[in-house]
Amino acid sequence: MVSMESKTPQIPRLLESRVAVVTGAGRGIGLAIAHVLAAAGATIVLADRDEAQLQLAQDSLAAAGATSSWIRCDVTSEADVEGLVDRCVERFDQLDIMVNNAGITRDATMRKMSFDDFNAVIGVNLSGAWLGCRAAARVMRDRGSGSIVNISSIAAKIGNPGQTNYAASKAGVIGMTKAAAKELAHLGIRVNAVQPGLIRTPMTEAMRQDIWDRKLEVIPMRRAGEPVEIGKVVLFLASDLASYMTGAVLEVTGGRDM
Ligand code: NAI
Repeated sequence: MVSMESKTPQIPRLLESRVAVVTGAGRGIGLAIAHVLAAAGATIVLADRDEAQLQLAQDSLAAAGATSSWIRCDVTSEADVEGLVDRCVERFDQLDIMVNNAGITRDATMRKMSFDDFNAVIGVNLSGAWLGCRAAARVMRDRGSGSIVNISSIAAKIGNPGQTNYAASKAGVIGMTKAAAKELAHLGIRVNAVQPGLIRTPMTEAMRQDIWDRKLEVIPMRRAGEPVEIGKVVLFLASDLASYMTGAVLEVTGGRDM
């Protein structure tokens, strides 16, 4: 669980009366994004495939004084993602911010990677984000405004051995972000992406210590990022501070692979 009190000091109230959906919000970066957007005044809809994590996530937001609700959603299911957006609008009358964050890894060299593991990663990371973009845009276009933020990865830019599936999915997210940005700009909808570097979450805590240490060596800031440091960049893109930005890709990496 993320304690945000010490980690989100002085978050400006940039999102008063906005409603935000965050996928993969049960833990890690998604949960931190939810906390930061909530601290900025947004009402949050937490979405994840893991109900137990969702309940814990909602409890942590309630403890921080935030309004949120959760909806179980597997982002690989078209019906789930369409239903997520519809239920958000039924409940809160609007959807202003969609954060497509849910993601998985299934690392292996190509020699050992099964086609199933390739497709599983593309399914969650790329097809899931596409479903989220399409569903959000469908309701945002009626209001003539909205901000979609897709979570890619620095792996999209550099590739990592053992991550042909992951790097392809995250590079796909960048191409999709730019194409969607061009399609949706005239409707008042902005679409941007964030490329995190090494961030300390359950996904990366599974990494072997020697691999973790080697990654730290190539980060100019000499530390891993905290999930809340992704949340703050998502807040910027989601807010009117980024009103003239669309199709942008922001690297949040401590300077790694710039
Ligand atoms: P995590 O594994 O800690 O959390 C991912 C969350 O997504 C979990 O709550 C999980 O239940 C949920 N999820 C997985 N598959 C889902 C599905 N099909 N439908 C709905 N929810 C699903 O991962 P972490 O580290 O918080 O990553 C979040 C995003 O940030 C991912 O897209 C990841 O690729 C990206 N990222 C993470 C980096 C890191 O260093 N942790 C670096 C670069 C990108």
